[in-house]
This record gives sequence, C-alpha cells and structure tokens, in this order.
Amino acid sequence: MIEQLRKDFPLLHTHIEEQPICYFDSAATTQKPQSVIDAVNKFYQQENANVHRGAHTLSAAATTQYEAVRTKLADFLNVTSKEIVWTKGATDSLNLIAAGLSEKLSHDDVILISPLEHHANIVPWQQIAQKTGAKLEVLPADQQGVLDLEAAKQLINTLKPKILSVCHASNALGNIHDVAALITTAKPYNTITIVDGAQSLLHLRPDLSAMGCDFFVFSAHKALGPTGLGGLFGRYELLNDMPVYQTGGEMIERVSFSGTTFRDAPGKFEPGTPNISGVIGFGAALDYLNSVDAAALSKYEQGLYHYLLSALKAIDGIKVWGDTEHNIGVVSFTYKDEHHFDIATFLNTYGVAVRSGHHCTQPLMEHLSLSGTVRVSLAFYNSYNDVDTFIDALKDTIDMLEE
Ligand SMILES: Cc1ncc(COP(=O)(O)O)c(C=O)c1O
Repeated sequence: MIEQLRKDFPLLHTHIEEQPICYFDSAATTQKPQSVIDAVNKFYQQENANVHRGAHTLSAAATTQYEAVRTKLADFLNVTSKEIVWTKGATDSLNLIAAGLSEKLSHDDVILISPLEHHANIVPWQQIAQKTGAKLEVLPADQQGVLDLEAAKQLINTLKPKILSVCHASNALGNIHDVAALITTAKPYNTITIVDGAQSLLHLRPDLSAMGCDFFVFSAHKALGPTGLGGLFGRYELLNDMPVYQTGGEMIERVSFSGTTFRDAPGKFEPGTPNISGVIGFGAALDYLNSVDAAALSKYEQGLYHYLLSALKAIDGIKVWGDTEHNIGVVSFTYKDEHHFDIATFLNTYGVAVRSGHHCTQPLMEHLSLSGTVRVSLAFYNSYNDVDTFIDALKDTIDMLEE
C-alpha cells in the first residue's frame, strides 16, 4: 500500500547530495501529492479569477470551488462551514484569536498554556497579557517533557483560567495531549478553549465536535496542502462575537464616510483577496486524505515509529525525549553532548533531511536543559527503507564525531 502511495509524491523520488532523498521533516512541512500540485496548476492555467466579485463565469466558478473547500474542511472536522475562517496559517490564526479575545481579558484573568507550545501559541498570548494585565500561566510537565495530566487538571481547577490554549500534538517531541480531558475540566469555569492543531490535522484527523473546543487552528502545508494558507474553526457564537481583526475590502457589509458595518463571520475575518489557489490546492489535499484508509495509515505510521524508536534506542549514547507512548511519529533525540546541528549536517550528506535546533519551542528546550535536539518527523509516505537508511547514516555520523 505504502509503495503505491509513495508514487503520488514526486519529491520523494528526487535526490539530495546525489543520494535518494529520505524526507524526515514532515512536522516542518509535508510533501505534496501530485494531485495537489495539479489542482494549483490547473487553477492558474484554466480557472484563474477572483472570488466573490464579478458576474462573469470564471469568477462564479472560482467562488463555487473556493466555498466548496470550506464545506469539505468543515465536514472533515465535523463542524459547520460558517465556523471556518481562512487565514495565512496557524500563526496567523492564533494572532487573530488572541487579538479578538483580548477585549474579554482584564488584570484578574489567567491565560493558561502548556510548556510544549510552539512560539506561535506563546508570543501572541504574552503580548495580549502585557496589554491587558492578564497573567500567563503554564501547565506542569516532567523532566522528559511530558505533560502531567492530573496536575494539569488540578491547576485548571485552581486557576479557573479565562483562556486555555494547548497544542493537540507537540511539534518538538510529538507528544499527543488529551485535549478533550483538559477541555472537560475547564468547561465549568466558562474557559475559552483553543487547540493548536498544526501537528494533529494530518495524523489524528480530529473530530472537533467530539473534542468540544471553542477554537482550533491549523496550517494547510502541514497536511499535504500548499503553503501560505491555514485557518481556524471557531464556535459560531464566540466567533461572530469577536471584533474584526484586519479590515479592508470584502469583509464589509457597507462602507460610508460616516462609518462601516461588517459582514457576519466568517466573512468579517477575511479581508482582501484570499489565497484562492491555496484553498483549491488544499481541497485536493482533503480529497487525497478522504481517499485513503485513515486507520490503516495510522497503524502503519505507528509501526514505523516504533521500529525507528527501537533502532535508535539500541545506539549507545542516544537519548530520546518526550512521550513515546502517545506520539504522532516525531522522534526528538540528542547524542551525548554533540551539537544537534552537526548531526543534522552530516545526515544531510547521506540524503537524510531532518530538523535540528529548538523547533520554535525555546521555553520547552529550557525546561529540558537543552539547546536543541535532532528531530525526525514521520509521515505515512515514509518507508522502512527510509528508517534503515537513516540509522546507517546516523551510525556513520556518530563514528565520525567520535574520531
Ligand atoms: C504546533 C505548531 N503550532 C504552530 C505552528 C505555526 O505554523 P505556521 O508556521 O504554519 O504558521 C507550527 C509550525 O511548525 C506548529 O508545529
């Protein structure tokens, strides 16, 4: 099955440093199936027009396609299409939500996040906390970087936060968080709950109605889609109640020099010409995800992850960080005191693409007393052969570093 699916991803059949590529950086961005590339090309070659304007055929067809993807995504997430806002990505979505919710905050309020958050789910809250006087507090985690769920629930009960914003899965370590349990704990306090789904959309295919969150953010490029596009889900009453973020054309109902009125959500959060080709490409990505056997792929990914994990753990001096029981297929490791950048650079000469550094999670690295890690992040299109290639390359790298 996987050999067949791998054929859909042209980049997997290219080379780095004259070696067949072994792409282990899907947490940074996933590779794109040919159908996504074709959909974007077809749009520009045959269908290009602006949306929501003009009576002509091309514009009407582009608008229909564009809005159909909103519905497709809403179905994928089990919510309604008027609760989906298109943005530039997860970062943009989190900034929009933080700005929109700032009006609800005062100096008595608590914003609660986890220590595993990406900077995109830290810095916007820090800024809003500074502006409103609200306190930014952090959930507890152990020395491995694993959230302590019971202590986290206790802290929610103690702090009764106004806002709880946590990642569904960590980009740095791959840990999966029981966000539904955290949300249930926070519900009695009318906490507004936000889930950063940048890493979970592809691997966990969340059902947002079951999860019960108020907001969920994602980036299309981490789920087989194009870059420059993302979005958010917002529970309609909350979403519609939020003030506008950026302003301009399209998001208005009426403009005059005496004042402006705005459209209802989601339109009021989508000013200007949107990323039309991105949305259409993402539609093709969703079609691709809907066409494969999700359960079989998840089982395959987990098998590959544990194969990689045991091969790595068998190497003397390797330390793997994070929660290896509940994990989307990310292995973050260090080797003795060797610098992560040196390891990643050597691996590149073998055609192995991994990420090294702090992974935009500097507070987490500080918590782990690390400057960074080497991160291998898997997707269903990786093969067992990729893992073998990587392990051989890593052993050679270690030999070189030990010389
Ligand atoms: C968990 C998480 N949140 C947010 C982001 C930000 O996504 P983007 O850079 O696409 O806006 C990332 C990107 O790595 C991420 O992994």
